[in-house]
Amino acid sequence: MSTVLITGGAGFIGSHVAERFLAEGWGVHVVDNFVTGKRENVPAGAEVHALDIRDPAAAALVASLTPTAIVHLAAQMDVRKSVAEPVFDAGTNILGSLALLEAVRHHSPATRFVFSSTGGVLYGDHTVPPNVETFTKDPESPYAIAKLSVELYLAYYARVHGLDTVALRFGNVYGPRQDPHGEAGVVAIFCGRLLDGQALTIFGDGLQTRDYVYVTDVADATWRAATRALPARALLDSRAFNIGTGIGTPVLRLAEVLHVAAKRELDIEYAPHRPGEQQESFVDISKAARLLDWRPQVDLDEGLARSYAAFAARHDARRRSPRTA
Ligand SMILES: NC(=O)c1ccc[n+]([C@@H]2O[C@H](COP(=O)([O-])OP(=O)(O)OC[C@H]3O[C@@H](n4cnc5c(N)ncnc54)[C@H](O)[C@@H]3O)[C@@H](O)[C@H]2O)c1
Repeated sequence: MSTVLITGGAGFIGSHVAERFLAEGWGVHVVDNFVTGKRENVPAGAEVHALDIRDPAAAALVASLTPTAIVHLAAQMDVRKSVAEPVFDAGTNILGSLALLEAVRHHSPATRFVFSSTGGVLYGDHTVPPNVETFTKDPESPYAIAKLSVELYLAYYARVHGLDTVALRFGNVYGPRQDPHGEAGVVAIFCGRLLDGQALTIFGDGLQTRDYVYVTDVADATWRAATRALPARALLDSRAFNIGTGIGTPVLRLAEVLHVAAKRELDIEYAPHRPGEQQESFVDISKAARLLDWRPQVDLDEGLARSYAAFAARHDARRRSPRTA
């Protein structure tokens, strides 16, 4: 049986990736230290290893499983925290990733290593979207710098040690089980405020765009990236794939669609533009379509309706049983 080790598998994206591999009949192992992940996120059938990715026991696990693929999602993924605590951020996001790559090099060199990078903040603010994989990278936060650093290591390990590495540059991923603190927390934040009967706050004019991609589409792309034959890695970008929708959605439109899902009158408060916030960010996805045979299947209206329904169900469960939900 093929096996996958998913780091961060108790998190938002990781739990959906675990579901996808289980549905394909794979053996699924999850490594997570539960700093933000939750046990109840992990689907039945996956084996959980409560470990930090930097713990030597995680390397030993790689050695004993020699998995077909590793999907590396575990990360400190709060951009603001990376600005406040860059050393902590690099410890998890760079050194943690390196520890796994070293384990693969020494103990499981045939494993396909799929890394969760970012298409949202890697290219910076000086390109004209849609951003293509080969565009100049200009990361503006320690979080984004760490992602680019790991991508450089992936290219190094492929070139020098022959490892089979892939980078997926996710857009703003949203959907059920999303945490409000992450890179694309706005959907979770908006759903929470609508459920509490509060107005939605928009910074600036609301016309700033992001590429919102539904989480099951991301899980599908991840499964394809872990399993398909791919061209050999040559340069930094040759095994990197943007995973988004190719559409830049203004945050104002996001708010409008969520009001429809919540069956509420539009109630928006405007606050001053936040300095440093990117104005336009969306990615070109033609490479993933061509080489992974992947296209997103869930459009924004459908994805936001499903997300709102999932947040509403959790909200109701919490109200009925505040200690367990
Ligand atoms: N959500 C997005 O829109 C988005 C966009 C681009 C990239 N990404 C990347 O995708 C990955 C998953 O993001 P997510 O949104 O599911 O976040 P998440 O916080 O829900 O998941 C991260 C998981 O990693 C675990 N973790 C953190 N540090 C760890 C450590 N040292 N050892 C073991 N486990 C650890 C957490 O407990 C959590 O379960 C991250 O690498 C993130 O940077 C996310």
